[in-house]
Amino acid sequence: MVKAKKWVVKKYFDGVPKKSDFEIVEYELPSLKDGEILLKTEWINVDPYLRAYNKNILTIYLVSKFELYKRLRIPTTQLVLKSSPTKPKAGETVVVTGAAGAVGSLVGQIAKIKGCKVIGFAGSDEKCQWLEKELGFDKALNYKKVDAQSALKVAAPQGVDCYFDNVGGELSSAIIGQMNMRGRVAVCGSISAYNDKQLPKATILQPSIVFKELKIEGFIVWRWIDRWSEGFTQLVSWIKSGQLKPAEHTTCCVVRDNALSCLGIESTTLWQSIWLKRRNGSSKNTSTGFPRNQTLKSSNMNYHPWKVSALTVAAPQGVDCYFDNVGGELSSVIIGQMNMRGRVAVCGSISAYNDKQLPKATILQPSIVFKELKIEGFIVWRWIDRWSEGFTQLVSWIKSGQLKPAEHTTVGFDKLFDAFIGMLEGQNTGKAVVKV
Ligand SMILES: NC(=O)c1ccc[n+]([C@@H]2O[C@H](COP(=O)([O-])OP(=O)(O)OC[C@H]3O[C@@H](n4cnc5c(N)ncnc54)[C@H](OP(=O)(O)O)[C@@H]3O)[C@@H](O)[C@H]2O)c1
Repeated sequence: MVKAKKWVVKKYFDGVPKKSDFEIVEYELPSLKDGEILLKTEWINVDPYLRAYNKNILTIYLVSKFELYKRLRIPTTQLVLKSSPTKPKAGETVVVTGAAGAVGSLVGQIAKIKGCKVIGFAGSDEKCQWLEKELGFDKALNYKKVDAQSALKVAAPQGVDCYFDNVGGELSSAIIGQMNMRGRVAVCGSISAYNDKQLPKATILQPSIVFKELKIEGFIVWRWIDRWSEGFTQLVSWIKSGQLKPAEHTTCCVVRDNALSCLGIESTTLWQSIWLKRRNGSSKNTSTGFPRNQTLKSSNMNYHPWKVSALTVAAPQGVDCYFDNVGGELSSVIIGQMNMRGRVAVCGSISAYNDKQLPKATILQPSIVFKELKIEGFIVWRWIDRWSEGFTQLVSWIKSGQLKPAEHTTVGFDKLFDAFIGMLEGQNTGKAVVKV
């Protein structure tokens, strides 16, 4: 009989994870049957998703010892930049948050390999120094010390072309607010909110999205599983040529009191062995890798913050496409109820036009990443070369009775301002016009 240890979940996370949520249990492994092999776990990956998915997804990575194989220590969750929606080009400015972490440190280095200017945000001066001196970032900023907005203006006076978002929240709003026209944002994670019981609010993104025609896309690495070997080959070649330095934070052999800090909550890591058990009893080892072709359901997420009964009743199957004219909290609510791979067109943000300072609303990043949403802003002028095509189509639909144009008419040139204010107050139905 072989003795083994496992970490067992006693209580699902509620707020900041506590060590008392787990216990280590010693148990005897059953004898091997014919055709079975026994692997000894040597390394365990610690991932923010252990927190984000909480009770629903229990996948972790293990590197196990098996005599015939050598240990493979190539970053597995980082095959991201190539397939990420930002597609950075040489000369562009790329910003990455969570820059000194597993994903962020590789993202920044890959962007450097691609010839970009790279600015990283990380949580200590030491990390920032490491990013600049060891990894060649052009600038690293300690988000706990600097005012992100002004520091970024100095670091990226030409604005930001691509943003790789690992954190969400107010830091991301500050960065997205400084993006250039047609900038691209890849939302990879939202760690700043993983411990919150209710999603926090941050400065709304819609005005930047629409007026700068941004593209924002969430993605989960599993989506690109068919390109993993391509990614591995590329990463190995960069590592061998010295262009890419993989960094690991290792804690050895002992189970520390501050083990939970591995989720990015405090400082260092790690656990000796983790085996997560479903509350209903049967323990399930999902540690051997990603399930192929797994489709995530939004209901699997840790986040169920928006129970808006009216929309839930009206769209019990969820929302696939959202045409956003208003921005603000209403849009956060709707985006929170979108289905996997939903699409959002941001056309306006009228709820904030009269505000002196942009308002805050529930953050969008958890929905964007976990549901792999695509959000795109557009201004009608961009499509001016297709206007006659559009007119022809609209006229034909109006003539066939499929489309009913609606107008709200105010009479008199002197009433122009009243018509304008009335429109902002919602007095019109359909297109507001003034008959002079
Ligand atoms: N989409 C995908 O397929 C995929 C795959 C893997 C990971 N992810 C996501 O990518 C992000 C990074 O993951 P990782 O594995 O590379 O973890 P990591 O960056 O190695 O570790 C987490 C780091 O997050 C930072 N952090 C913690 N709280 C923060 C806050 N409130 N605001 C800003 N930063 C905070 C901490 O560094 P500081 O000292 O800088 O604060 C911590 O070291 C996470 O959001 C994760 O969920 C996504």
